[in-house]
Amino acid sequence: MLNVAIKAARAAGVIINRAALDVESVRVSQKMANDFVTEVDQASENIIIDTLLTAYPDHGILAEESGQTRGNPQSEHIWIIDPLDGTVNFTRGLPNFCTSVGAADVLTGEWLVGAVVAPILDLTYYAKRGQGSFVIRNGQHIRLTGPPADRATKIIATGFSYQADERVAQFENITRMMPDFVDLRRMGAAALDLCAVAEGAIDVYYERGIKEYDWAAGALIAEEAGLTVQRPAFVGDLCHARLA
Ligand code: IPD
Repeated sequence: MLNVAIKAARAAGVIINRAALDVESVRVSQKMANDFVTEVDQASENIIIDTLLTAYPDHGILAEESGQTRGNPQSEHIWIIDPLDGTVNFTRGLPNFCTSVGAADVLTGEWLVGAVVAPILDLTYYAKRGQGSFVIRNGQHIRLTGPPADRATKIIATGFSYQADERVAQFENITRMMPDFVDLRRMGAAALDLCAVAEGAIDVYYERGIKEYDWAAGALIAEEAGLTVQRPAFVGDLCHARLA
């Protein structure tokens, strides 16, 4: 499953990279204030789902844009897809965006594989349950081990919801946490924030209310790097309540 996850995420990365060359001409529509969906999100999602269902026609799909309209909702395997995490960065020509593909066994509640591909940065993060997590950087597969526990100066990363009241609540939480950190990063793609912690560049990532497609792959990558991950409630419209 891991190879298929990476293949799907990379195929989407090719589409996104091509579109990033001429971002001004990408059609963008607004879901809510500051929350955009581009035609690139949709093309990226289609190629990811096509790749996954070609390999596993009976599996279930939960995707950011199309929900559970494709795949088999009764399957014991579910793929959770964010076709373009960091959409705002993408629309503004900032390079921190990625595709995120994770899979879980809904009967056991176990997360199985995760792949996060940042196409402009040319980084592929991946993890398989029980087998560690890795980044492919300059063609080398480097094992991820998280931040050093004894680092004296810690940095926290966070993100902010598209909903104003959530944003304010998040800001207040972060303000309370700041005495424990020397600095804060808001990089704009939750999946890459989780990978940055797995890589040890960031010490902690905290965000309220992110959706499962934002964290599905990155949470496993962080966990397999040895980190403790507290996943938010699974908010998708699924009968598979075991996944959390
Ligand atoms: C968003 C990004 C952002 C996070 C938001 C997410 P999107 O995802 O991951 O960093 O703070 O909560 O919704 O909309 O770019 O896929």
